[in-house]
Amino acid sequence: MNKAVEQGNPQNTELSFSDEEVKRWTPSRRDFLRILGAGASVAAFSPLTAFANNGGPGAGSLRSQLVQDERFWESVNRMFILNPNKTFMNIGTAGSMPKLTLDLFDEENRERAKESLSGYSNLLTQRTRVAPGFGVDPDELAFSANTSSGMCHAILGLDWKAGDVVVTTNHEHPGGDTPLAIAVARYGIEVSRIALPVGNNQTAETYADLFTQRISQLRASGKRVRAMMWSSPTYKTGTMLPLVELMNVAKANELISICDGAHLPGMMALNYANLGMDFMSGAGHKWQCGPGSTGILVIRNKIRASNPLPLPKWFPIHTSSFPTAAQSGVRTATSTFDVGSVVTSCGSLHTPMFNALVKACDIWDEIGRKKIETYDLTLSAYLKERITERWGVTRLYSPKDDPRLVSALTSFNPFHNPADVLDSAKSTAFVTRMLNDYPKGFVIRNVNVPVIGSERDHYVIRISTHLWHSVSDVDRLVDAMWDLSKKMA
Ligand SMILES: Cc1ncc(COP(=O)(O)O)c(C=O)c1O
Repeated sequence: MNKAVEQGNPQNTELSFSDEEVKRWTPSRRDFLRILGAGASVAAFSPLTAFANNGGPGAGSLRSQLVQDERFWESVNRMFILNPNKTFMNIGTAGSMPKLTLDLFDEENRERAKESLSGYSNLLTQRTRVAPGFGVDPDELAFSANTSSGMCHAILGLDWKAGDVVVTTNHEHPGGDTPLAIAVARYGIEVSRIALPVGNNQTAETYADLFTQRISQLRASGKRVRAMMWSSPTYKTGTMLPLVELMNVAKANELISICDGAHLPGMMALNYANLGMDFMSGAGHKWQCGPGSTGILVIRNKIRASNPLPLPKWFPIHTSSFPTAAQSGVRTATSTFDVGSVVTSCGSLHTPMFNALVKACDIWDEIGRKKIETYDLTLSAYLKERITERWGVTRLYSPKDDPRLVSALTSFNPFHNPADVLDSAKSTAFVTRMLNDYPKGFVIRNVNVPVIGSERDHYVIRISTHLWHSVSDVDRLVDAMWDLSKKMA
């Protein structure tokens, strides 16, 4: 296992990629190590190390780690055509295609128009290219229309029985909640929601305990619990529900595991074969910076040591290919079918769009997925420390000190009077003024968060930090938010 990758990974080392896989990410291993900052400086740059000692590295040390590779990230920034008059910090809603991706998309669209081409394909060649970046085989990776479409493929393809219970959370996105609601209406399944904590005072064990307790309670009352569904990270607080810990709970309880991973592709460098969840539905158009209407859906299609449970019975629900092997819905270790191809092929596809997604994935592999993850998380850690310095740690709705729970989404309450976080209109005005009232206006968003003990939702501000940002973007953002919070007091 590559030591640099292990050290740089704030998650469990089980999620890491092998040396062979990592080599594919950059033109050369030496370049990869240079980019990451080999040896001692790897440890210095790693959020894991930063968090390890005292539950918070302080903004100063994170800042100096971030500026070490500033010129490299400036060159990455120049790969995008982002409007220079704005600062785009809502990647959690929309990414932006790099120039090279746009060029390919444009050329292929023109070629398609010129030659009146169709798109009947399962895109096996393209999926074969992309799959190693996610640690899986091509039959386990499908191209979907987006996260929501992937969640429909996953949830509505399962053979639900009336009374089956899905344990999930109260911070899910409609992208997962909607197919769940359809399964309730159509098959009579039941949904049990765990109320999630917010803020820094939590650890990965909190989530393992919450899910384990709920499953035990339900089973003790005679309920048939069949699946767990959760977001990693949630779109509300950016909390990375801990994948290893939740997968351990799913396996111990022999449950189907469904992860809404809208924000994972392009943000986190994860090996899904090692994680072993049954379904991970991610977006291609957010952090991965592919075109709109693209998604990456990973479906477990092999029994590995990472998840020895039988493959769940599952039928394709949106396809123009229904091979005999799929018709029973049963997949076994010795008999399954190419799930990735079946899910991907549905009539004539917009091949330029998916080829553009592949191009975006190529660029990520070349930069190094781990390098991007480390940068994104370190920027977010820096932002969280700056917020803590100015507003106090209690204003964070995202955790910061357990590296297993962090993502590049940062949610907090910026208001001078903390109770204003209940005021949806004021929260929306804050977002609007951050765009309009400051030079290089900030594109951020707000989001409602159900909070334990509060009758009303909180309307927090959510910020995304990604590979086109610099530490000075974060500094300008914090100063502007501080200024605006005083003006809106
Ligand atoms: C957690 C989560 N799930 C699902 C979605 C829906 O994503 P998509 O537009 O890719 O369907 C989002 C969008 O922001 C999200 O944050």
